[in-house]
Formats: sequence, C-alpha cells, structure tokens
Amino acid sequence: MSEPKKLFIKTYGCQMNVYDSERMAEALGGQGYVETKSADDADMILLNTCHIREKAAEKVYSELGRFKGLKADKPDLKIGVAGCVAQAEGQEIMRRQPLVDLVVGPQSYHRLPEMEAKTRAGEKALDTDFPEEDKFEKLKNRPKAKRGPTAFLTVQEGCDKFCAFCVVPYTRGAEVSRPADRILREAQDLVERGVREITLLGQNVNAYHGAGSNGEMTLAGLIWELNKVDGLERIRFTTSHPNDMADDLIEAHGTCDKLMPYLHLPVQSGSDKILKRMNRSHTSESYLRLIERIRAARPDIVMSGDFIVGFPEETEEDFQATLDLVEEVKYGYAYSFKYSTRPGTPAAERAQVDPQAADDRLQRLQALITRHQREIQDAMVGRTVRVLFEKPGRLPGQMVGKSEYLHSVHVVGPEISSGDLRAVRITESRANSLAGALL
Ligand code: 5AD
Ligand code: SF4
Repeated sequence: MSEPKKLFIKTYGCQMNVYDSERMAEALGGQGYVETKSADDADMILLNTCHIREKAAEKVYSELGRFKGLKADKPDLKIGVAGCVAQAEGQEIMRRQPLVDLVVGPQSYHRLPEMEAKTRAGEKALDTDFPEEDKFEKLKNRPKAKRGPTAFLTVQEGCDKFCAFCVVPYTRGAEVSRPADRILREAQDLVERGVREITLLGQNVNAYHGAGSNGEMTLAGLIWELNKVDGLERIRFTTSHPNDMADDLIEAHGTCDKLMPYLHLPVQSGSDKILKRMNRSHTSESYLRLIERIRAARPDIVMSGDFIVGFPEETEEDFQATLDLVEEVKYGYAYSFKYSTRPGTPAAERAQVDPQAADDRLQRLQALITRHQREIQDAMVGRTVRVLFEKPGRLPGQMVGKSEYLHSVHVVGPEISSGDLRAVRITESRANSLAGALL
C-alpha cells in the first residue's frame, strides 16, 4: 500500500470552522489523507479562514506567502484556502497568489474530494457556490473513529440578520437549517463514538427551524429530541440572537435536564442609538427584559455575550450605556472587540471613531467584564458542581473538565478518566479556572 498523504489544516475563527475542519479532514480521509500537525511534511495544506474581524484577507495572503519555500521543495504540495475569506475573495486569491491550487467556500466542502483530484491532475479548483444541498450529509463517510467527550454539531448555517458590521450574511449566505432527523442521527453517531456533550452550532442557532417529523421544528424542539438520546449527558448551543429567543427555548432552560445553564447571547452595545445603527432590531431594554425572563426560568444560568466598541458614531455616552448594561447583566464570560471595518458591509462607509478612544473603551470594558467574570467564578467556591472530564491537566494525576456553567475545573484524581461526569466540590478560584475535589 502506498504511504498515506498528509493533510495539514490550519483553522482560524469560530467553532463552526473547527467543526468544518474536522469534516474536511474526514472527507479527504476518503482520498487517503491523514492529518499532520505540521505544514512542513504535508502533501496538502488547507487554511480554513475567518473573515469576521481583523484584516483577514491580508493575513491569509501573508500566511500563503510563507509556503513559497515549502512548495519550491515539494512541487507536489497542494495549497488550498477554505472558509469565509475563500468565499469572500474567490478567484482573486488564485490571481494574487499563484501558489494556491484550490479555493473552496464553506458551502462546498462536500466537493473537496473531487476538487483535490482535480488539483492532482494539475488543474486549479475553485468552488464558492451556495448549492441547495446538505453538505454535511454528503460529508459523512468515514469509519467510526473514537471521539473525545465533547463535540460540536452544526445544525444551522448562515444568517438573515444583516447587522451593519458583519460579513456573515455575505460569506455564509442565507439562513439554512438542517433537517432534524439528520442531526439526530449525527448526534446518535457521536454518542456511539464516546461523545457525552454536544454543542449545537449555528451563526444564528436559535433561529433554527429545520424540517421535523411534524412540520418545522424549533431549536427547543430539537433540544427536547436530543434530550431523549441515551448516553448523551449535556446539550449546549451557540450563537444566539436576542430576537430569536423563543418562549419554548426560554422554558427549556428551566425544564430540560440535559440543557446546560449557560447561554451566549450577544448584545453588541448597550446604547439604543448604536443598536439601531447596527441594525440589531432590539433595544437594551428589550434585551434586559429578555435576560430577566431567562433568569426567571433558570436562576443560576451563567450569561455570556459579545460586544463591539468604537462602532461608527459611538460617543462616550453611548459607551457608558454599554458599561451600564454590563453592570446590570454581569456576564460570566464576554468577548469584546474593537470595531473593525469589513468591506462591503453598510457600516464600512461610515465615519470611524478615533482609534485611541476605541482602544481606551475596549480596555475599560474588558476590565469590567473580567471583574464580573472573577466574581462569578469566586462565588462557585464551596459549591458542588458536576464536571465532565476531558483531558489530563499539567500536574501529575490532575484532570481537567468543564462544569455545567462552562468553567474549567482542575481536580487531582488519578482514578478519573476522560468522559467521566462527577460531582466536584469547588475549593479554589484561580485566574481562568477553578480547582476542586471529587465528592
Ligand atoms: N468588528 C468587530 N467585531 C465584529 N464582530 C463581528 N463583526 C465585527 C466587526 N466588523 C464580533 C461580534 C460578533 C462576534 C462573533 O464578532 O461581536 O458577535
Ligand atoms: Fe452577523 Fe450575528 Fe448579526 Fe448575523 S446576527 S449579521 S451572524 S452579528
């Protein structure tokens, strides 16, 4: 038998890309590829790119430039660009960087095997269409490999919200939900391979409305179906839009035993003026009332969010409104970003905020978020949580896992295995994790 070819995938950006990279590796596994951790010995390099912030395209070009030497040494090396930069730039990538053999958009990953074959025949392969088919259905082909205890499962892709700063509606296309039966089959398969916690993924996951056995199913409906899967212990989902937090989903947070008490619900800003300019179609008040309802259903829920500071026309007063909102919600986790222009989005045309002011706001916001994060973590000390153990820690005999609330918990216990779900009493709160002891 010939040596397997080696595939190196570098993944940028969100969990959706992590999931997609796994599927791409599986698809190319069918072509005789095994994954390698280094670009140096690869026969194929794929950059799975992200376009959401930063100067994404420029970064990709400079990364590609670095492969020049590799390709000179190994003319058979194939180089591909996947993900949202591939979608946004398309053919332009091959024009600017002739090293590139393959450009594939997120909706075309199931076509990778034939695209790879094309590159082996010495041709260039480009596919950035938005076909009307379930790429994941076409991507499942490999023998059942054992998996770790946690996995992502994409249930929905794309977005129809068109927030004024965001490229997702352009790079990932319109909102599409996968049919429920396929998701349930995939979940069942993951569980058979050792998975105990599934995070349902979607750019706008709570807008899920896939075909179910009795018409359309909501995300809550899907979660209730997953709740019945034996061996699956935990369900999470991300990322949600406030306007799609339906009543049945809020209720599920109080009643569905496998749904974890953690919710990522980006608000982006606390200023109604800015929210309006962002085309968010909710106000800070409606967001706060929503959180009240979620907390009424599940009082211990840990909230997480995303923020953009320095959005065009954000004044100090607008920013203060964001701080006020954060103060009121108290996030257990939050991700804050300085606004960055994404060409082609409506906000790109507008007057930018002074970068120094934006830097300063970002620091102040992050300081406040970190303080709350720490307070919420510290409040866990003395409490008993359930930890799903994932991997060994750095110290001998130590294992690390996640609590219901997504806190990392370190426990010394040589008898603990990956995949164990155990009650742990929290004894200490550290910078970014908790420590505890088995009960
Ligand atoms: N600039 C800064 N942050 C952005 N995000 C999306 N687009 C931009 C942009 N142009 C942030 C939002 C979103 C998260 C995934 O990335 O906060 O929720
Ligand atoms: Fe982008 Fe999320 Fe807004 Fe959709 S809802 S446009 S993915 S920020």
